[in-house]
Amino acid sequence: MEGNRENFGGRVAVIMAMAGSAIGLGNIWRFPYLVGEHGGSVFIIVYVLATVFVSLPVFVSEVVIGRRSRCNAASAFSSLSGGNRFWKAVGFLPVAIPLIIVSYYSVIGGWSIEFLVKSLDMSITGSDPAYAEGLFDSFTSGGLMPVVMHLVFMGATVLVVAGGVRSGIEKFSKLTIPALFVLIVVIAVYSVTLPGASAGVSYLVRPDFSEFTPRTAAYAMGQSFYSMSLGMGAIITYGSYVSRKENILASSVGTAVSDLGLAILAGFAIMPAVFAAGIEPGSGPGLIFRSVPYIFATMSSGMPVLSTVMSVMFFLAVIVAAITSSISLVEVGVAFFVERTRLGRKAACLLILVLCGTAGTFCALDGRVFDVFDKTSSNFLLFVMALVSVLFVGFVMKRADVFDEVTNSGSLKTPARLFPVLYFLIKWVAPLAVVLIFVTNFIL
Ligand code: PHE
Repeated sequence: MEGNRENFGGRVAVIMAMAGSAIGLGNIWRFPYLVGEHGGSVFIIVYVLATVFVSLPVFVSEVVIGRRSRCNAASAFSSLSGGNRFWKAVGFLPVAIPLIIVSYYSVIGGWSIEFLVKSLDMSITGSDPAYAEGLFDSFTSGGLMPVVMHLVFMGATVLVVAGGVRSGIEKFSKLTIPALFVLIVVIAVYSVTLPGASAGVSYLVRPDFSEFTPRTAAYAMGQSFYSMSLGMGAIITYGSYVSRKENILASSVGTAVSDLGLAILAGFAIMPAVFAAGIEPGSGPGLIFRSVPYIFATMSSGMPVLSTVMSVMFFLAVIVAAITSSISLVEVGVAFFVERTRLGRKAACLLILVLCGTAGTFCALDGRVFDVFDKTSSNFLLFVMALVSVLFVGFVMKRADVFDEVTNSGSLKTPARLFPVLYFLIKWVAPLAVVLIFVTNFIL
């Protein structure tokens, strides 16, 4: 499979593409509402620990599987296990799951486009705050617009992927990810300086340990997996574009730090504003789509131009973050179709557009379908697949081969020194953590 596969061009490109996948709606949309539902600061602490000790080792495992096999996520397992039947069958999971996720993910991407439009024509900032807060419910309660916007989002994603690994994905991520950081810092600064924001800030930094339950831990760990794009074949696929010279551990740490950083920044962009506006932090998936318009509408009486600009920037940031993630989901399918069928890259993109465009249309029209897609993929299948990946690296691959990948055949000193710890986390800690999540979510 070596053939003439494309590679990312260097460390920065690898981190930008991987961070592009990791940083997404998970950080800006999902993280703040989960923080609000699960006790604020305590959730954040568990989330950070889970990322360092569990998600990072899983992430490294997926990159190792990708780079060693140098093929699409479905073929990777069978090629590394010497064509074993079981692993051949398992390999289809990481190709099927991302297509489920991208179908509903792009519906949220579509909402964001709609809210960008509503920011531009000032129907958010120019309106009564209560009306702005209600926009989300009226927009999602039927009608064709959510479907249209979902298709626009999906189309944009596919367009970038059709451009190829280097000139599509890599170029786009290198351009947008740094811009995203700038945008979100500006918004966070604005948010924490709002009158009444301090309650939100202390909610994020002052832990109330009485809020801690096993469920908090399970959700925080699940969120960390989701945010790091694990269990979806995305990191396996991107890993297959990482050159042999690259330091896997360093790129993984770089991605984890960017992902954590952006989630926490997003927390500071949203929560203080939510408190300033007196919105219930635990109000669920609609949180940013209700609170943000409300806040900007409130602000706009004194500063109409500034609040419009902020609102535009905010939804632009959400869209950018979402697109680089859905690109990585689509690429999983594209790599599969290109390498396993006779389809070319563009045809594969078109096929996925039709498949996920259709599935997503059902999600956009019916909240129950949306929920089924979201829950089965992000609360269940993702863990199954993440577990499969770490068990594969920990028990099916040879330790010496894993060492070779992580240290580039022993030539990288720091990864070589850290390897025993990393390997222990991969082999024992990560699988145990995933099993605990299952027990807490499904049995307790
Ligand atoms: N990590 C992305 C986010 O935080 C979601 C995602 C999951 C993307 C899995 C790719 C694969 O939004």
